[in-house]
Amino acid sequence: MKVDVLLGLQWGDEGKGKIVDVLTPQYDIIARFQGGPNAGHTLEFDGRKHVLHTIPSGIFREGKLNLIGNGVVIDPVTLQREIGEVEEHGVQVDARMLISRKAHLILPTHRLLDAANEQDKGKDKIGSTLRGIGPTYMDKTGRNGLRVGDIFLPDFKERYDRLVKKHARLLSNFSEFSYDLSEHEPAWFASIERLRQIPVVDSEQWINDQLDAGKRVLAEGAQGTLLDIDFGTYPFVTSSTTTAAGACTGLGVAPTRIGEVIGIFKAYCTRVGSGPFPTELHGDTGEALRKAGHEFGATTGRPRRCGWLDLPALKHACMLNGATQLCMMKADVLDSFEEVQVCTHYEVDGERSDHLPYLLEESLVNPIFEPREGWPGAGQSGSGTELPASLMNYVQEIESLTKTRISIVSMGPDRAQTHEMAS
Ligand code: IMP
Ligand code: MG
Repeated sequence: MKVDVLLGLQWGDEGKGKIVDVLTPQYDIIARFQGGPNAGHTLEFDGRKHVLHTIPSGIFREGKLNLIGNGVVIDPVTLQREIGEVEEHGVQVDARMLISRKAHLILPTHRLLDAANEQDKGKDKIGSTLRGIGPTYMDKTGRNGLRVGDIFLPDFKERYDRLVKKHARLLSNFSEFSYDLSEHEPAWFASIERLRQIPVVDSEQWINDQLDAGKRVLAEGAQGTLLDIDFGTYPFVTSSTTTAAGACTGLGVAPTRIGEVIGIFKAYCTRVGSGPFPTELHGDTGEALRKAGHEFGATTGRPRRCGWLDLPALKHACMLNGATQLCMMKADVLDSFEEVQVCTHYEVDGERSDHLPYLLEESLVNPIFEPREGWPGAGQSGSGTELPASLMNYVQEIESLTKTRISIVSMGPDRAQTHEMAS
């Protein structure tokens, strides 16, 4: 069997949680491969809303296993809280979830370093979620990190102390930043005890064994392609590989074992945090989109920046990921517009281009928009209803541009508001 990968093609918040949840019945295992509690994956069913940060989005489906892969960074405190929330709904998390021994741990000092770094950057800040993601990946590549497997070693505490000492030295460079570690450590060590109860595995071996045994695996991405550490709008990016390649390194599966690559995008664009966003709408229209789409961060509650669909960026993301099918999300949010705009090209140095330039800054890139007929009144519609012709035209234009089939159009947050498109 092969691993199918599901990932975001924009700046995150495309609706991955919903689609993973919708697709889970077709799989045996859902595996997260990168990112950490900076993610916020929202699932809605039976009139309830759940937000997951570290736990894979298959957790609510009976009989499915959920893996937190080696590429993920784990904050045991937020994980413990999340487990508590899921268990309130009658789910026995320890029976459905496994964690990779090689996943890295987020320490309280990683979060402090994140905050100190951002404070120091002032107006140039990344707009990080401040969950300690960047500093944890820095320690991973810097070969200083602590991994989940370390919590079972007799000298775990010494390893922890050694790393914290390093962090304290770094933090002392930020004269404006004050902190009290004793406020954070007791909860962190308590959550490590909880972590010890979750099945921990050599996940690269485990997942390949599962594939050999015929199990179907869906790899669940976090953030989005335009936040990728290499190919995103650097330095305004996250610190992991959010593209399809990340599924290989973040799970230990070979490229030859990747099957479908399912790319998710919204019918418009959003971005939370700083960084370039060529199609951003600054006035009333942006505000209307934010309101209609409830565009506020699921992790931080920050208002998301909103803008029209960016076709050059979408095409680029499909290329980077080798997307084999697409899901278009939140098409219902545009249903108050008689006419919508799409960015078909950029103007860079006075020339028309549909390639992504090195820098996507507003001062260097001028987006060229074209109007398209809207689908006013289409509303949040259930899977049985027919989609308006103008929306079908929008779908077909994107399919022909990206040379990729759109298999799902989502018309609302609920599981039931999902249109599967005939192939
Ligand atoms: P970090 O990953 O928390 O360091 O944040 C780096 C950038 O990525 C910031 O602009 C965040 O707002 C953004 N970001 C991180 N995680 C997500 C996510 O799950 N959805 C959307 N944006 C995210
Ligand atoms: Mg999100």
